[in-house]
Amino acid sequence: HQTLKPFPKDFLWGAASAAYQVEGAWDEDGKGASNWDKFVRIPGKTFKGTTGDVAVDHYHRYKEDVRLMAEMGMKTYRFSVAWTRIFPNGRGEINQKGLEFYDHLINELKVNKIEPILTLYHWDLPQALQDEYGGWESRRIIEDFTNYSVELFKHFGDRVKYWVSLNEQNIFTNHGYHLATHPPGIKDEKLFYQVNHHANLANASVIKEFHKYIPDGKIGPSFAYSPSYAASSSPKDIMAAENAEELNSHWWMDTYVWGKYPEVAWNYLEEKGLAPLIEKGDFDLLKEGKPDFIGLNYYQTTTFEENPLEGGIGSSEMNTTGKKGTSKDSGIPGLYKTIANPNLERTNWDWNIDPQGLRIALRRMTNRYGLPILISENGLGEYDKLDADGVVQDDYRIEYLRSHIIAIQEAISDGVDVMGYCVWSFTDLLSWLNGFQKRYGLVYVNQHEEGVHDLRRIKKNSYYWYKKVIESNGTSL
Ligand code: BG6
Repeated sequence: HQTLKPFPKDFLWGAASAAYQVEGAWDEDGKGASNWDKFVRIPGKTFKGTTGDVAVDHYHRYKEDVRLMAEMGMKTYRFSVAWTRIFPNGRGEINQKGLEFYDHLINELKVNKIEPILTLYHWDLPQALQDEYGGWESRRIIEDFTNYSVELFKHFGDRVKYWVSLNEQNIFTNHGYHLATHPPGIKDEKLFYQVNHHANLANASVIKEFHKYIPDGKIGPSFAYSPSYAASSSPKDIMAAENAEELNSHWWMDTYVWGKYPEVAWNYLEEKGLAPLIEKGDFDLLKEGKPDFIGLNYYQTTTFEENPLEGGIGSSEMNTTGKKGTSKDSGIPGLYKTIANPNLERTNWDWNIDPQGLRIALRRMTNRYGLPILISENGLGEYDKLDADGVVQDDYRIEYLRSHIIAIQEAISDGVDVMGYCVWSFTDLLSWLNGFQKRYGLVYVNQHEEGVHDLRRIKKNSYYWYKKVIESNGTSL
């Protein structure tokens, strides 16, 4: 563009977190155990056995954290509610102390003119429901997730107008039921698709209820979209990228928005005997749960090439999730295989750095779905260090965020309706499997894998930089 359109006046500049990754206080004030509370205790599952028992102690330090947000001028804060604080066993009697914690947090945000964005589910399932009926493996989850969500709508709906239903269904099901690296640690492809069908129904059910309780609010799921690139102009590589887009993106997003599974993916799954069982009325419910926006969690793109049916790479790992290194090959014979993209630099965690990919993601989503988009996560995980002067020189993060914000402005100038941008993350937090060494925050937290630490908060260089970005509504980058 010769001239870029300005960011909208009411653009939601913000940052995000998730309950398990920041709160700690894992068994305080009546909270029940979640699947993650259990999983992290299994030896060998997380980096150095790190747990979220304390995390960054946001449960006790939320006031200080909100003060830091306010000082930065943040317009919005996206956080998640721990289901087990509200219903320790997933359903039944409400734990008032749990509601109180989020009441206080939300009130603190409102007083400081920070718009809360509440995520209903960021992966911490009540363990009681996993034990009782397999959690997402059973259709019973639809009712329990809806009851829990409706409680939150009733209680917080007067103050909270932006809601995210499920965070990255594609990631939590892929890691939970395909790669077995997240709870419940199962590898079962057929079950993976069934679990997803239940999650789609649960998502639609809460969205449908939401519109009855909070008619002036907006709700949508957050999806980890990693746009697919073809490795070359060979039609076979382009078909491989198309296959990936169908199976790893349209499979979820079409269902959220249109209440139906895309034909190409559905036919492939039927042929393989992997298609989920559908009951009468399911598609009606899916259609009734139309989101108001799509949440986009963007980290990277993935590049694909042809993978022959006979003799192709068959790890069958769907490496389009933005959660793994991108320099290692994986694939599904007959569909695609992933390859490293020689045009892109990668982070120390082997994730592609691709700001143009964000513009591409925003345009593709807009063309296909025509809904507003909230960028609910984007950020850089690195080994930040506190230097001898007590400063965190994370200029590489500033560069990362700056280039992605430019890409957003280009997309806005292309005509994409972007509601806001949440940096992942506000403070440093527990990176699920990577402990505290992989840091994302604008604010450093003195917390490490081993030993006892004072958890003090230190503003990184990126904090001061982002403050100016917000103040100038994106004109000072
Ligand atoms: C997103 C999740 O997938 O990526 C976050 O919603 C997560 O919860 C973030 O922390 C970064 O992933 P990781 O594995 O580097 O912590």
